[in-house]
Amino acid sequence: MLLEGKTGLVMGVANKRSIAWGIANTVDKAGARLVLTYQSERLGENVRELAPGLNNPVLVPCDVSSDEQIQALMSRVGQEVGHLDFLVHALAYAPPEALGGMYADTRRDDFKTALDVSAYSLVTTAKAAMPLMKERAASIVTLTYLGSERVVPNYNVMGVAKAALEASVRYLASDLGPHGIRVNAISAGPIKTLASSAVRGISNMIKLHTERAPLRKAVDIDEVGDVALFLVSSMSRGITGEVIYVDGGYNILGV
Ligand SMILES: NC(=O)c1ccc[n+]([C@@H]2O[C@H](COP(=O)([O-])OP(=O)(O)OC[C@H]3O[C@@H](n4cnc5c(N)ncnc54)[C@H](O)[C@@H]3O)[C@@H](O)[C@H]2O)c1
Repeated sequence: MLLEGKTGLVMGVANKRSIAWGIANTVDKAGARLVLTYQSERLGENVRELAPGLNNPVLVPCDVSSDEQIQALMSRVGQEVGHLDFLVHALAYAPPEALGGMYADTRRDDFKTALDVSAYSLVTTAKAAMPLMKERAASIVTLTYLGSERVVPNYNVMGVAKAALEASVRYLASDLGPHGIRVNAISAGPIKTLASSAVRGISNMIKLHTERAPLRKAVDIDEVGDVALFLVSSMSRGITGEVIYVDGGYNILGV
């Protein structure tokens, strides 16, 4: 029970395929008390259906494109559970039309939306959570993908957003480290989810990954959950500002 007595916030459950759901399950089994957020009432229905599988989580709506909703979330967390030992940021969005064709065709508004929801949201959420996490040896974990550093066809503006997210992990780790808060990212291999289904050719990407990754298999949400458990627990107390790959080794390949 690595997380016995710990309280955490997991953002980004849309359904049972969500990486956030894999993480929520793992950290729940490890003894954590959880607050889960959902983006909209429609997705809230899914989360309410899944929640009984966990140990009585608190459910709170939060659209991260709104600073007011993020502040309201942290007030609720403060009232309901008092503090946070960890926060998992497992969410991203880009308009589907920006996830195919030439990156050079990306429209200004789509660029802004992708960067706002997928990268800036980590910055503003971390800042808002700070009073609840300070001096608690707390940990923040976000989710990224290899498309931040290599060209992956159709990933386009999301790759640029993930590059900003990874740079934010380093800057936030430097800002928050003196307050005892660590910030890291998990770079997961491709998994079929609601969000990844918007990237044209995702099924083929998963097939290629399975054929070529050194471990010759697709990544699953439980594997990501286990690494998230390590990163939010004191087992990783010496690690901050890092990107850890959970991709069966795919990122080490040259060809
Ligand atoms: N699936 C993959 O192949 C893969 C690989 C590497 C990294 N990731 C990353 O993992 C994270 C989770 O994605 P997933 O694949 O589990 O998909 P998912 O669709 O299950 O989760 C994405 C979540 O983002 C939320 N979201 C989108 N816009 C939001 C907003 N404005 N406010 C609040 N929430 C919002 C959605 O509601 C959803 O819960 C994302 O950051 C994604 O980029 C996914």
